[in-house]
Amino acid sequence: MADTHCSAAALLARRHSKEPVVCVRPHLLEAQAERLVDAFPGDVLYAVKCNDTPLVLQSLWNGGVRHFDTASINEIRLVRTLLPEATCHFMHPVKSTEAIAEAYFEHGVKRFVLDHVDELTKIVAATDGAEDLELFVRLAVPGQGAMLSLTGKFGVEVAEAVRLVRAVRWHAKEVGLTFHVGSQCVDPQAYRRAIDVAAEVVAETGSVDHLDVGGGFPALYKGDEPEFEAFVAVIETAVAEHGLVCRLQCEPGRALVADGASVLTKVELRRGRSLYLNDGVYGNLAELKWIGPQFPTRLVRPSGEVGGAQEAFDLFGPTCDSIDSMPGPHWIAAEAREGDWVEVGMMGAYSSALKTAFNGFEAGTVAILHDDGWYLPGLREPEQAARAA
Ligand SMILES: Cc1ncc(COP(=O)(O)O)c(C=O)c1O
Repeated sequence: MADTHCSAAALLARRHSKEPVVCVRPHLLEAQAERLVDAFPGDVLYAVKCNDTPLVLQSLWNGGVRHFDTASINEIRLVRTLLPEATCHFMHPVKSTEAIAEAYFEHGVKRFVLDHVDELTKIVAATDGAEDLELFVRLAVPGQGAMLSLTGKFGVEVAEAVRLVRAVRWHAKEVGLTFHVGSQCVDPQAYRRAIDVAAEVVAETGSVDHLDVGGGFPALYKGDEPEFEAFVAVIETAVAEHGLVCRLQCEPGRALVADGASVLTKVELRRGRSLYLNDGVYGNLAELKWIGPQFPTRLVRPSGEVGGAQEAFDLFGPTCDSIDSMPGPHWIAAEAREGDWVEVGMMGAYSSALKTAFNGFEAGTVAILHDDGWYLPGLREPEQAARAA
C-alpha cells in the first residue's frame, strides 16, 4: 500500500525522496467517477490502458464504475483479479486467438470489437462458435478536434461496416457499433459527426443493439475545455435526431483519471531557463511533450510551495536521448534551483502507464495525497488560470 500524506511538501519532508513520485488522490478519482457515471445515459467503461495502477482502478470502482475497456489479456487478468465483480469488454480490434479464448472461457468476456472479417472468423473459432457473443464493429470517423488523432490505424468506412454488420449478425447475440474520435478532443461536434456516420450504417443494416461512442473526452488541462456534460448533451441530441434506439456506452480514459494524480520530479540542474529533471518523456511525463506545455505546474520544497514571480522554462528529462525534452513555456517559480521539486498537476492519464526503464531510470514510486488538488481549474492560482485561458 502506498504511503499517505496531506500535501506534496509534507511528503517531501517525510520521505526524503530521490525518485519521482506519482501522487494519487483517490478521493478525486472517486468523485470524478461518480460524476461521469451519473452524467452519461448508458454504461461508462474505464479505458484501463490510461492508468492501470491498482489504486486507481479501485478508486474508480468505489466511485461506481463497473465496466472496463480492457485492450489486452493482461489488463483483463488485472481487472478480474482486483475487482472480481467487474465486467470486462475486449475493445481492441486486433487480438490473438489465445487472448480471445482465455477472455471468453476464463474471464467471462462476451463483448469484442472487430474491423475485419478475418477477426470475426478468429473470434468465432476461438470461442467455439459461442452463441452469447456481443460483437461491435469499429467505424472510421473524422478525427478533427482531437489533440491526439486515432484515425488511420483502426476502423472501417461505411460500405465495409455495412458488410461487417451483416456478417456479424450471423454469429452474435447482440450487435454494436463503436468509434473513437481521437484523444483530448475539445470539439463536442466531433461526436455528432461520428454519430452521423453510425446512423448511415444503421440506415443500411437496420437497428443495432449498442452504440459505443468511445473515449476522447478532454481533461481540463487549460481549464477552458468543454466539460463532459457538454459532450453528453451533443451525443444525446444526435442519437435522438437520428432516431437511434440502442443502448449507449462510452470508454473514457483521460477524462476519468487525469485530475486524480500529479507527478513530483526533482530539479537536477538549472541552466538559464532550462530545468533538467529526474523524470521525463521516457518516464511519467511523456504527455508534456505530446500534448504540449498545457499542464499546471508549481515549485515545491519540503518547507512548502515556492511562490513569487514565475518564468517560462523548457524542461528536459534524465536520459541521454534528445527526444527526452519537453519544450515550454512551462511556468514555474523564477527561483527554481537544483534540489527543488516541480509538481505537475493533471497527470493521472497516460503518465505511469507509459513509463519505461530506458537508460536505467526507473521512474518512480506512488504515494497517496489527501489535499484538494491545487491544479484543478477552480483551485488554480489566479496567474495560472489567466495563463491557461
Ligand atoms: C478503443 C479505445 N477506447 C478508449 C480509449 C481512451 O481514450 P481517452 O483516454 O482519450 O478517453 C482509447 C485510447 O487510446 C482507445 O483506443
